[in-house]
Amino acid sequence: MKKLFLVLVLASNLLIAQRNVSIIPQPVSLQINQGAFVIDNSTAVKFNTADKELKLAVNFFSAAIRNISGKTLLLNDVAKNNIVFKIAKTNGIGDEGYTMNVSPSSITIVANTKAGVIYGIQSLLQTLPAIRTNEVLQVPCMSITDFPRFKYRGMHLDVSRHFFSPEFVKEYINLLASYKMNTFHWHLVDDQGWRIEIKKYPLLTSVGAWRVDQTDKVWASRPQAKTGEAATYGGYYTQEQIKDIIKYAAERNVTIIPEIEMPGHVASAIASYPALSCTQQQQLPLTGGNYSGMSSNYCAGNDSVFTFLENVLTEVIALFPSKYIHIGGDEVEKGPWKVCPKCQTRIKSSHLENEDGLQSYFIKRIEKFINSKNRKIIGWDEILEGGLAPEATVMSWRGEAGGIEAAKAHHDVIMTPGSPVYFDHYQAGPEGEPLAIGGMNTLKKVYDYEPIPKELNAAEAKYVLGAQANLWAEYITTAEQVEYMVLPRMLALAEVVWSPKENKNWENFNERLKNHFKAFGQRGLHYSLGNFTVSIKPSSQNGRLFVDLSTEILNAAIYYTTDGTEPTLSSNIYAIPIEINASLLLKASTILNGQIMGVKAARQNFVMHKAIGKNVTYTNPLSRYYQADGPNSLTDGVRGTAAVGKYWHGFNGDDLIAIIDMGEEKNIQNIAIGCLQNYNDWIFLPQSVKFETSNDGNVFTEIKTVNNPIDINTKSVMFDFKTDFPILSVRYIRVTAKNNLCPPDHNGAGKPAWIFADEIVVE
Ligand code: ACM
Ligand code: ZN
Repeated sequence: MKKLFLVLVLASNLLIAQRNVSIIPQPVSLQINQGAFVIDNSTAVKFNTADKELKLAVNFFSAAIRNISGKTLLLNDVAKNNIVFKIAKTNGIGDEGYTMNVSPSSITIVANTKAGVIYGIQSLLQTLPAIRTNEVLQVPCMSITDFPRFKYRGMHLDVSRHFFSPEFVKEYINLLASYKMNTFHWHLVDDQGWRIEIKKYPLLTSVGAWRVDQTDKVWASRPQAKTGEAATYGGYYTQEQIKDIIKYAAERNVTIIPEIEMPGHVASAIASYPALSCTQQQQLPLTGGNYSGMSSNYCAGNDSVFTFLENVLTEVIALFPSKYIHIGGDEVEKGPWKVCPKCQTRIKSSHLENEDGLQSYFIKRIEKFINSKNRKIIGWDEILEGGLAPEATVMSWRGEAGGIEAAKAHHDVIMTPGSPVYFDHYQAGPEGEPLAIGGMNTLKKVYDYEPIPKELNAAEAKYVLGAQANLWAEYITTAEQVEYMVLPRMLALAEVVWSPKENKNWENFNERLKNHFKAFGQRGLHYSLGNFTVSIKPSSQNGRLFVDLSTEILNAAIYYTTDGTEPTLSSNIYAIPIEINASLLLKASTILNGQIMGVKAARQNFVMHKAIGKNVTYTNPLSRYYQADGPNSLTDGVRGTAAVGKYWHGFNGDDLIAIIDMGEEKNIQNIAIGCLQNYNDWIFLPQSVKFETSNDGNVFTEIKTVNNPIDINTKSVMFDFKTDFPILSVRYIRVTAKNNLCPPDHNGAGKPAWIFADEIVVE
């Protein structure tokens, strides 16, 4: 009897231990042992006081313990039990790794550097309560060896589109640090606000940091400011505040990389100093996404622009100790350079090929200056256009292609692809979620991200320094919303960039996440409970259309309806793929523990026609980024919407040539293909669409070629190219959509466009 009791006690101790060890990111190796170390008033911290760096780490730890318990730890005193911090040469854990051993009488954290000690402390803190408590502070006995997979682990924040207070910036940095993210990319400059005090150019902040307040309107629909309207929205960080934030970050091993955007996205600088633009015309600070008639580029032909930038960068470099200065470089609208005499003179005198060459000239000239100050540049992947600056590190955001190209050219790369690490995109819904810029990056999608692309060999892969999530703030107006967009996706990213690939485990991550949700709640942080949106995925099998339903939520069920009503607890339970053989509206909800989860059911309309479920083959390859629901998405009965990329098959620069095999000869009398134009995203309707039929799959007869009737400068439109004809009996249909070029005033003027198509409808 007694023995059994002992076993039960041990088992329950172990249970406590396991419950409390939910470290994110998952350590390289973690062994949990029996028993616990108790932190109380007779616990001492031991460390070498001569080591100033170590002293900072100890201060950080002592303050954290005081915060959660009110206890003040003894320092280097005789004590009942000890927490020992040591910087000592330790093989195999690198600059940021640590080992931690917890026994009932001691906790020992050893690392090669202060950074490693800090990360040991972060792991330790994750085993303790998150807020002030009278609970006994028990640390389960365990031993950990831990170090990061990638040396660059970044989070970005756009403080231009919305201004976030210095206090919130610190909270954000603290949150990063808790999950061992080591870089804060501070996007301080953009069109809608200049946010860093520059002593030599006071108008940058007295003018460029303030705009007419239209926070009540959606970004894209804000009217431009009128003369006389008060500019009351904004703010900036003084150099003193910035120094304080840098110090706060350094205490947590977070490096701040400032982004001083150029040569585009600088309407705020131009509002402050109009002579910086090509037109040199006065303009008011932008209120949102309406750029019409506004300049947003520096003039690349004007030497005084470079003098200005060198002066700005000199102050920036004096403030920020970071090795890297981010110089932006993205989305330069090159039209104004084409019509600017100074820019054109520069192209000629410097023997540049065109405006891409001018962009490259601009970045290289700035790089030379930054290198002369012993710093290095990072730029968005557009800096590849026209030739990469010699020492530049590339941030790959338009997918991974730029990163792959740069790594193959032996340049360092940071992966920040829109899918899946733009955290301004939806994480669930979109029904029931706060309005977001578009896209869908769920927690699982982030968790499954692999920063090393398959295209790179082992030597090239070494140039991938790590990954970063970006948080643009056009649609994010409050600190609470920042928290909501970042939590818990940042935790998934932390595990991507820190933990060994083989230690990643989605189920286990979800299990550990529960403790973190509890901590967020206790700390009053806003976070997303998860993506309860059912994924509705059509799939064709032998000419028939089925729908697979799935949920990211573990141990959940899916209930669905096909009559347009909302699912209830008495609706059909999903078990096997559902065959679709009539037009219908499918709705589906996630059910967890007997409750319908999420605000709204996922929904999808299916439109039946004669080619539904039929096989489609393409002559030119489909872009790997726009595959919709897979190979037969053009015959799945699902029509696209202009705002959401996931419905469309995309072809980058190629014609879309699709052959549909109807399986047997069928009587048909019309064919249509749905296409999308989104001017700003380089997606244009095809120049023309040719419809052909065949009965042997070799010899095709043209029915009709339909030319594009829509104005090429139309911003956004969905259009069906179609043809009607007297009834024909055919087995094969070939549709050829001819790729367009970006029009003359477009950012990509003369370059091949994208074709996006959602469905080939055959009746
Ligand atoms: C970007 O998202 N424009 C870098
Ligand atoms: Zn110019």
